[in-house]
Amino acid sequence: MDVETNVDLLQYNTFGISVRTEKLVHLRTESNIEEYFNSTYNKPSLILGGGSNLLLTKDIEGIVLRVEVAGIKVLRETDDHVFVQVGAGENWHQFVIYCIQNGWAGIENLSLIPGNVGTAPMQNIGAYGVEIESVFDSLQAYIIDDKSWQSFSRDECNFGYRESIFKRALKDKALIASVTFRLSKKPNFNTSYGAIEAELERMKVQDLSIKAISDAVITIRQSKLPDPAKIGNSGSFFKNPVIYQSAFDQLKTEYSDMVGYPSGDGKVKVAAGWLIEQAGFKGMRVGNYGVHEKQALVLVNYGGASGQQIFDLSEQIIESIDQQFGIILEREVNVI
Ligand code: EPU
Repeated sequence: MDVETNVDLLQYNTFGISVRTEKLVHLRTESNIEEYFNSTYNKPSLILGGGSNLLLTKDIEGIVLRVEVAGIKVLRETDDHVFVQVGAGENWHQFVIYCIQNGWAGIENLSLIPGNVGTAPMQNIGAYGVEIESVFDSLQAYIIDDKSWQSFSRDECNFGYRESIFKRALKDKALIASVTFRLSKKPNFNTSYGAIEAELERMKVQDLSIKAISDAVITIRQSKLPDPAKIGNSGSFFKNPVIYQSAFDQLKTEYSDMVGYPSGDGKVKVAAGWLIEQAGFKGMRVGNYGVHEKQALVLVNYGGASGQQIFDLSEQIIESIDQQFGIILEREVNVI
């Protein structure tokens, strides 16, 4: 267990925000986790994974824990599936590539999502028609108050759209150390998301494969999402709001090209990117931060912006969308 003092967290969050913490503790193994909570250290102020879904608005008083448990292990296999346990600190995209190389299907649509494996279930990451819950088997988490390990099945995680129990009832109470995935040896291709089909066609793919789907997703993402290594961002800043069909129909009479997808229960998931673009924010730049020019759902830090400035911009966007459409946007990122 390594402990650093007075650390700038700039390199630990994909938004590239510079804030300081009194102490940063690197937890590289399960024993490190136990050691920390059995020691005299105080409760952590923040638990950090890949830092890809986080907006830091102020210095952190106290201790930041960074979960860096490594390792990929096949636990068991059946004719159709392989159960793979992955350390929370493994990079998500590297793991996706590893699965593709091994012919394990199920997460190819989730290529190039920034962040680590341990934080992926927290917000049930999703893209191009697939959410992590569809390949999730279980996870191991350390329950801070009980000082004990607990295994969570898929049902126990209460997964929803960018939601899980770890963002709600167990927020700041559990520390995910590893996740077990149930991947398929026989692929079940999911190309239903429009842009994938079009990209595969453009790539002139003859034999569909998980590698081809991954390549298509990577190309699509690179074409409209900023690379956090170059421009600070946290992916979608807001969730796509879910509204009643009747409200959607009403808005459609005024905005005929409004984008929405049926989301069950007589509700519609509205493309927040469309709303933000309509409100005139797409590509807007204020000094060194703003709204991405190719995807209005992504707020960006061109370098040197503060978390508070980005938060204030998000407030302005929420207010403006509320006034124009009567829809309240909810942030997807965790604001600290
Ligand atoms: N749109 C606009 N203007 C924009 C952006 C989008 O009009 O600036 C409209 C387009 O018409 C497009 C529709 O919105 O057809 C949907 O856009 P897109 O396909 O880019 O997806 P999204 O709904 O904006 C969601 C996820 C992304 C994920 C993509 C692809 C959320 C909050 N975001 O975005 O996830 O990659 O679908 O599946 O659900 C993330 O969570 O960080 C993330 C990037």
